[in-house]
Amino acid sequence: MAAGSCLAIILLLSGAVEMVKREDFKTCDQSSFCKRHRNVKETGYELLSNTISSHGAEYTANLQNSENTLKLTITGLADSTIQNDIFPTPSFAQTPEPLAFKSFDNSGSESTIIAGDGKIKVVVSFKPFVVNVFNEFGELVSQVNRDGKLKIEEFRTKEEGKEYPEGFWEEHFKSFKDSKPYGSSSVGVDISFVNFKTAYGLPEHADSLALRTTVGNTDPYRLYNLDVFEYELNNPMALYVAVPYILAHRANRSVGALWFNAAETWVDTQSSVTSHNVPHFDAHFISESGLVDIFLFVGPSVRDVQRQNSKISGVTPLPPLFSIGYHQCRWNYNDEQDVQQVNQGFDDHDMPMDVIWLDIEHTDGKKYFTWDQHKFAHPIEMLDKVAAKGRKMVTIIDPHIKKDDGYYVYKDAKDKGLFVKRADGTTDFEGHCWPGASEYLDFWHPETRSYWKDQFTFERYVGSTKDLFTWNDMNEPSVFSGPEITMDKDAIHYGGIEHREVHNMYGMMYHSATFDGLLARTNGQDRPFILSRSGFIGTQRTAAIWTGDNTAEWGHLEIAAPMVLSLSIAGIPFVGADVGGFFGNPDEQLLTRWYQAGAYQPFFRGHAHIDTKRREPWLLSEQSKNIVREALRSRYALLPFWYTLFQEHTSNGLPPMRPLFYEFPNDDSILEEQKQWMVGSDLLVRAVVEKDTYNVQVNLPTSERWYDWVVGNEVKSGYFDAPIDKIPVFQRGGSIIPTWQRIRRAAPLMKDDPLTLFVALNSDGNAKGQVYLDDGKTHDYQKELYVRASFVYKNEGKRATILGEHIGGKLEAKNWIERIVVRGVAESPKKVEITRVSDPVQPLEFSYDRDSRVLIIRKPEALITTNYQIHIDF
Ligand code: NOJ
Repeated sequence: MAAGSCLAIILLLSGAVEMVKREDFKTCDQSSFCKRHRNVKETGYELLSNTISSHGAEYTANLQNSENTLKLTITGLADSTIQNDIFPTPSFAQTPEPLAFKSFDNSGSESTIIAGDGKIKVVVSFKPFVVNVFNEFGELVSQVNRDGKLKIEEFRTKEEGKEYPEGFWEEHFKSFKDSKPYGSSSVGVDISFVNFKTAYGLPEHADSLALRTTVGNTDPYRLYNLDVFEYELNNPMALYVAVPYILAHRANRSVGALWFNAAETWVDTQSSVTSHNVPHFDAHFISESGLVDIFLFVGPSVRDVQRQNSKISGVTPLPPLFSIGYHQCRWNYNDEQDVQQVNQGFDDHDMPMDVIWLDIEHTDGKKYFTWDQHKFAHPIEMLDKVAAKGRKMVTIIDPHIKKDDGYYVYKDAKDKGLFVKRADGTTDFEGHCWPGASEYLDFWHPETRSYWKDQFTFERYVGSTKDLFTWNDMNEPSVFSGPEITMDKDAIHYGGIEHREVHNMYGMMYHSATFDGLLARTNGQDRPFILSRSGFIGTQRTAAIWTGDNTAEWGHLEIAAPMVLSLSIAGIPFVGADVGGFFGNPDEQLLTRWYQAGAYQPFFRGHAHIDTKRREPWLLSEQSKNIVREALRSRYALLPFWYTLFQEHTSNGLPPMRPLFYEFPNDDSILEEQKQWMVGSDLLVRAVVEKDTYNVQVNLPTSERWYDWVVGNEVKSGYFDAPIDKIPVFQRGGSIIPTWQRIRRAAPLMKDDPLTLFVALNSDGNAKGQVYLDDGKTHDYQKELYVRASFVYKNEGKRATILGEHIGGKLEAKNWIERIVVRGVAESPKKVEITRVSDPVQPLEFSYDRDSRVLIIRKPEALITTNYQIHIDF
């Protein structure tokens, strides 16, 4: 990251089956702080110039209006992490890396700071108070408080006789009362992205990829982790995940803003143009509590912004190979025999599959870590049978703990005092969830985390083995009996923290503790895999996310891509939607189209509600079954590509599934594209999300040559046939994509397999690519036990050379190159030869198809751990 290209602005307070039940959830008008902030006019803050102090990487000053005095801190940061004074926890407390300002200058009306590496300029205007941020080209890209909406309601003691706004000290919603013993402590400010029309992010909403204008149209986007039953499409209601992050983009320029606040948040957005015709995208962030703590990522490119955010919020560590294969889930697989039949079914029908999932019914009375003694009497044998096929299992572990003295987890937690407390701060909070009366572990209690971790040891979790992984559901947390189906805001966590302060990170605190447990049970050897429904900034470090309870409808298939893309933009890359739709019964067409799209999305799992018909893929008609098999196989063929992308993500933060504008950042015509996306830099997917549609328009950016991924012929933008057995996928010219073509029953069984390379020539007749492989399972890659190989196709006129190079790692990988398919070759070669390390030159078999212009080179038999050259003479 360009040093200093990240800026933290911290304003600290000083001295001060029907459709969704909308009525269960608050609107902005029903939420007193949202209503007050949304209607705020100029609050008139000015900076007191005699309070300015600046040294090193920090600039501080006081701000004042008629109500408050605030302290402003602006910190120049290099590769840093979140600074967070309020919620110190083991996994997040990291020290940011400040980078001293290059210069600092004070005039009568403004301060000018040149931050870090000299690339960012920050101009702080005193009256009115505005922070102006300029990128390395000297362009004004962002302004904080431009519209003067900075408003902070500080903690205070209630004064009798004084008039307070409605809902300031106590608020009612339906039959629920929020006692607000500290009054309102809400915060809000506007952040403007100057010269940007389009912005993205703020997941999770079942809404378009590009953020809409909410001002004057709808409620603001709401970020409050909630369990929303049968969520509706195209509206800004809150869902399970909250990441208060916005990315603004225009041709070749990007800027990002992270609002670091874990309380309920609403964001009003507006894309408009000034009187001087300058477009700007405005976001008014409003949080119920906490600090104004903003990280600005100044880019200048979208890749820069993604990386800068990843330095603050973290990345997804390399997932185990099996987890990027296909997952088979249902609420519920009924018993051990059912599991065995599903396991066998995939083999009988020659379909790859990696993981069988067990939902809540596998437990003894919804007591997690236990097994139903009748249906799952022999869990270890069951797991071993599944593992014998190279597969894994996942069980669900939810955060509500059944109130039952005979349940060891409940009893332990009770004895140790590990449950969240009611507003009185002493009695345990109780709510209803799947098991009935339940209590909720308090992950702010220092002992809870280690207690939870210990539950995953093989001794403690009886019936588990190292082939069993974890699904953390309902962790918003979902409380059926609570306000908006969640925990009361005045519930109390350890240290007196009100739930309201930390609500949006409860889910992450939970799944990150689970991660510690899975890591510890093999002494850190094996990589954990956890799927979580709820998430926050940083969730990516320890869990994958799925988009919760969608429905078997075409609209839900279509919205899956923008939802997954929004999460990816916001830093959470390992994401997917329930294939087929959770509620309802998809018809064959919808289900097959969903498999085809899901095969090109990062987390790929079929799942269904308990009331739906069984839908294991072999229950389909012969034709649909064959199509689903093909979709599954297309995923498995690309596993080396996906795996390499996940590995690259760990260093550059780029999500494997990306919006088109990430790869074609200067093309203004694709800014709102959400039916097409990229897998990495090199594959473009156009999902078919329309019923009875067999021909679709595809916009292929003209700066590249493109090839049909399956046939290999060169194509241009336009209409493409998409018969029911095909979704349009294209390979970008200039790329080399590694694949596995020997599809086996599960991903780990393929890890040593030979590779087939797909080479797509660009307009200069060149191409390049890489592959990363390792044991797919352990952390040995941290000891250099991996292999990274690069492939280059060089056009040299009458000759072309393919250079294979071993460029990293010490793993003695067995993978060799089985076949090379070159696309866009103008004529048939006369001969093809290979030179391997010390072997003499050897001729290679090849064939050339004049119609598709595809050259196939057979059996180069070169190990990817070696260097070799293949010469093609025309
Ligand atoms: C809600 C989850 O979203 C769903 O996927 C799961 O099947 C049910 N809980 C039951 O555990």
